This record gives sequence, structure tokens and C-alpha cells, in this order.
Amino acid sequence: MTKKIFSGVQPTGNLHLGNYLGAIKNFVELNNDKENDCIFCVVDLHAITVKQDKYQLKSNIRETAATFIASGIDPSKSIIFNQSEVPAHAEGSWILSCMAPMGWLNRMTQFKEKAGKDKEKASVGLYIYPVLMASDILLYDATHVPVGEDQKQHLELTRDIAHKFNKDFKCDDFLKVPEPLIKENFSRIMSLKDGLKKMSKSDPSDLSRINLTDSKDEIVNKVKKAKTDSFPIPNDEEKLKSRPEAENLLGIFSSISNQTLGKTLDEFGGKNFSDLKVQLAEILSSKISPISEEIKKLTNDQQYLDNILLEGANKANEIARKKILEIKKIIGF
Ligand code: TYM
Repeated sequence: MTKKIFSGVQPTGNLHLGNYLGAIKNFVELNNDKENDCIFCVVDLHAITVKQDKYQLKSNIRETAATFIASGIDPSKSIIFNQSEVPAHAEGSWILSCMAPMGWLNRMTQFKEKAGKDKEKASVGLYIYPVLMASDILLYDATHVPVGEDQKQHLELTRDIAHKFNKDFKCDDFLKVPEPLIKENFSRIMSLKDGLKKMSKSDPSDLSRINLTDSKDEIVNKVKKAKTDSFPIPNDEEKLKSRPEAENLLGIFSSISNQTLGKTLDEFGGKNFSDLKVQLAEILSSKISPISEEIKKLTNDQQYLDNILLEGANKANEIARKKILEIKKIIGF
């Protein structure tokens, strides 16, 4: 059966190793499987839930599209587009927000984290953002949604919204209930400076993350400065449980090398972190630097990127417009 894949990445700059290992690397594998129909969206409507500089936003949109392509997504196989070019996303979001109970949204932990103590000042958009995400997915009848672990709760909400819509309007199976594709291992990459904090674009310390645009020297430097503990690397996974920084670095090494944590521990068990760091810096540079060089090349060719996004938006519009018309008919417009 053909899998319909949909996923999105926010154009908020500083795409990092967490985005790559948690999501984009999987997008590439899915893109390479002929059986799949893939759609990858630069979710600019999501980005404006927090304040953005208008010039920076435009360049971040292009850079995110460039990152998809530089990582290996082939725009002749997969649809790449930006969300604001397809009006059905916002329309669908409004309609679904009238179906989703406040109680469901009140449970979203990411809103609580992002809004922090100053909840009263957070935008309404940030609060209903998971409903926009549901609209993104449901408009395309996506069967599978590849994401990092931090998006799991939002996908559960999408599934609940789809079930509720189908039940409320007695249209069984009209909105397709998608399956999350979250890798069992290494789907939550942590900060290089604090193994208990997620690697994130918004961390004020650039040393906390490897950006996909970092040069070889920057990667080597960041790995060198990554936090570790003072014990040697253990031989078995059980002993990593209370050592978050060690677990993170070994996880990153395993994920980027496409091998199990067990195999990595066989290689490094009993050794010091300096040994791991040398090899980690080497493999990260060899995998990330070509992507970073390609991003630079592509972002210099704005016309090429704009054409890809335009072509993608035309194709996405065709699919989403049909679905939103059906939705409107079902609800009685
Ligand atoms: P965003 O832009 O924050 O992140 C893009 C993808 O990267 C993953 N990710 C991580 N994975 C592992 N470790 C990390 N430290 C890490 N940080 C980020 C995210 O899980 C995500 O898969 N709401 C989404 C974007 C979105 C979307 C969608 C996704 C909008 N509509 C529809 C899927 C389907 C977000 O903000 O991702």
C-alpha cells in the first residue's frame, strides 16, 4: 500500500542536529522509497506564533527548503512547499479549532514550555498551534507522519480531532487517522551542554547545538566542548541510565553512524570520552559538512528555491483545496 507521508519543519533558523536526526534524516529515507508519496512543508504559519523579523523569515523559509534538498530530499519525487502559500491550512485550522475542546489543548505540554511563566502574553496562535498542525496533516489524508519525540503529543491530538470530526459528522473514515513515525531510538537529541535539555533552536548558547550550517571547525570545537562526566564509557546500556550527557553523545554517534547503541558501546566501552569525541567530531563533520556546503550553494540561488516552492505549492494546493471543499460541504457550508 502506498504510504502518504506528511511532515513539517518551522523556518525559524538554526536548524540543528536534533532536527536532522529526529526528523529530516527520516524524511530522506521515506523520500527514497518508491512506494511513498511524500509532502514536506516549510511551516511558516507556525513560525509566526512567536515574533519573527520579516526579512529574516523570508530567508529562513528558503534556507529550510534548501536544507531539505541539501539533506537528500528530491523535489522531483516529493512535494516541497511553504504553508502560507496554501490557504486551506488556515481555513482547515479554523474549522477544526471549532471542533477541538479547550480541555484537549490545555493538556499540551509544549505550549506550557514555550509560553513559560508569561502565559498571558503568549499569542493565541501559539495556544492553538497544534490544531493548525492537525489541519496540515489531515488535509492530505496523510497515513504516516515522521517527527521527533517532542511532537508525539501533537500527533495524538491530531488523531483525536480526526476521530471526533468523523464521529460528530457521521462520516466514518473521512478524515484519515495518521500514524506517527517516531524512531524508537535517538528520537530526542539533547543539548550538548545539558543532557536533560532538548537540543533546541532557541537555546541562547550556540555551543548547545550543532547547526546544519556549521563548518567543520565549528563542529569539532562544539564536540570538544560538549559536557561529559568523569567516568569512563560503560560497556552496557543499563549503566547509562543516570548519565544523560554520556547517553546523548553515544546516541548521537550511533544515530549518525546508523548503528545500535549496543554496537557503539562495544566500540567505546571502557574508553575515555576524548576517544569518543575525536571520532564523533570526525563522523559528524563528514556527514554534516557536505549538507552545510550544499545549503550555502542552494541559498545563493534564490530563483531555483523559489521555483521549487512555487511548483510544490501548486501541487499541494490542488490536493488541499479538494479536501477543504469536502470538509465545508460536510459541515453544512
Ligand atoms: P520543529 O520545527 O520544532 O522541528 C522539526 C522536526 O524536528 C524534530 N526535532 C527534534 N528531534 C529530535 N531531537 C530534537 N532535539 C529535536 N528538535 C526538533 C521535531 O520533532 C520535528 O519533527 N510542530 C512541528 C512542525 C509541524 C509539523 C506539522 C510536523 C507543523 N505541522 C505537521 C509534522 C506534521 C514543529 O514545530 O517542528
